[in-house]
Amino acid sequence: MLGFRPEWAFGGGLQAVTFVSWRDSKAYLEHHLSFYPSLGRMEVTPGHEGKPEPGVLYPVVAGDAAILRCFRCHSTGAIRVTEGLRIGVAEPGVRCESCHGPGAEHVSKPGLGNIVNPRKYSAAQMNDLCGSCHRKPASAGDSTDWGNAWNVRHQPLYLAESACFVKSAGRLSCKTCHDPHSGAVAPSCAQCHAKPRHRPATRVAGSGCVSCHMPGVVPRPGLKFANHWIGVYAPGRPLRPVQK
Ligand code: HEC
Ligand code: HEC
Ligand code: HEC
Ligand code: HEC
Ligand code: HEC
Ligand code: HEC
Repeated sequence: MLGFRPEWAFGGGLQAVTFVSWRDSKAYLEHHLSFYPSLGRMEVTPGHEGKPEPGVLYPVVAGDAAILRCFRCHSTGAIRVTEGLRIGVAEPGVRCESCHGPGAEHVSKPGLGNIVNPRKYSAAQMNDLCGSCHRKPASAGDSTDWGNAWNVRHQPLYLAESACFVKSAGRLSCKTCHDPHSGAVAPSCAQCHAKPRHRPATRVAGSGCVSCHMPGVVPRPGLKFANHWIGVYAPGRPLRPVQK
């Protein structure tokens, strides 16, 4: 059994939902079991493999206060820590102000000068905006273990390795393929690769570009991430492109 009633549900519900509860004035509990929509059932939470129930405790103030970091990326606006060290958020989930900054002034007096507008961002600025949440945590160190399937979820890091990014003179950003508002994905490869030189050319017929050049990586059943290191992959080896 869970032992503690779930208080917060983390995750947009596409990959997994992890439950977190206030335990006492020292710690929050991340529950041992998470819900995986694609499996249709509860299974062990990522990172809890081999650890006991009811789950992992995170201190609210001591240590690296990882629980506050969860709320920082998964909610919008200021975080309050109230009596009994209970955490409160302004808005759950990733909302307008996560990307456009504080909007109160803009709402009371709408104008272009008092709101962050990422429309004119360079590709690097755009990748930094999205990367403020989607990159790997800084505390994990600077060198990336490309052989670790869990790291593929840090899309900005992987995209930055691609020849498409490095050699396109700042034209490729998250926005090229993702609509930041609807969540729609449209990988517009043709924008830069009108006629890829495939041998034989028929290789391409009938299948999208992404299945071969951005293969899906499954770090555990129920979770799947597209490898944003766009490149040429050997069959069955989706972690890292074939090096030339
Ligand atoms: C640095 C920002 C950041 C921190 C800190 C963070 N998350 Fe996330 N989390 C994300 C992002 C971004 C995604 C979306 C990942 C994706 O789908 O590519 C995500 C996805 C998830 C998901 C969906 C499943 C998955 O793996 O994609 C769950 C559940 C989740 N986070 C829970 C937590 C919990 C619990 C904590 C604290 C222990 C936490 N997160 C800390 C940014 C963060
Ligand atoms: C995940 C980040 C993100 C979130 C959340 C987000 N936006 Fe945006 N928004 C952007 C980006 C990036 C652009 C620039 C898009 C472009 O260049 O086409 C943008 C552009 C806009 C524009 C157009 C500005 C212009 O000059 O055309 C408006 C208006 C806007 N957003 C409003 C909102 C509102 C309202 C919400 C909440 C309901 C919201 N956004 C949530 C990232 C975000
Ligand atoms: C404030 C942190 C934050 C920022 C900034 C952010 N994201 Fe996210 N994003 C998340 C989290 C957390 C999730 C996991 C789902 C959830 O909890 O809503 C997510 C999920 C996603 C997903 C997959 C799920 C879906 O809804 O389709 C995409 C794609 C995505 N983000 C793209 C972007 C792009 C592109 C940008 C930059 C314009 C961006 N994000 C900026 C935190 C952020
Ligand atoms: C903004 C432009 C741009 C976009 C969009 C783009 N690419 Fe590229 N891509 C490039 C450039 C530039 C190169 C480097 C070409 C060279 O080395 O001459 C490249 C290289 C490649 C390579 C060779 C990789 C290597 O390591 O040499 C592949 C494969 C590739 N792209 C596939 C794709 C696919 C598939 C998509 C869509 C998912 C895509 N690209 C989207 C610009 C782009
Ligand atoms: C060349 C196109 C392209 C670019 C550029 C791109 N993505 Fe993606 N992204 C995709 C595709 C394709 C998927 C897989 C969609 C699916 O499976 O439905 C995806 C999936 C995702 C997801 C869902 C989880 C996953 O990994 O499958 C997130 C989150 C995401 N992208 C974030 C980003 C961020 C942040 C950036 C900028 C650093 C970015 N993407 C740049 C094409 C792109
Ligand atoms: C069935 C797998 C597969 C599909 C689908 C596929 N490719 Fe490729 N692609 C490869 C392989 C393997 C190579 C390297 C060997 C070769 O050149 O034939 C390659 C090479 C490339 C290159 C580098 C060679 C060059 O032209 O400079 C680019 C760019 C590229 N593909 C783009 C695309 C685009 C764009 C699409 C979608 C229209 C696509 N590919 C669909 C397997 C695929």
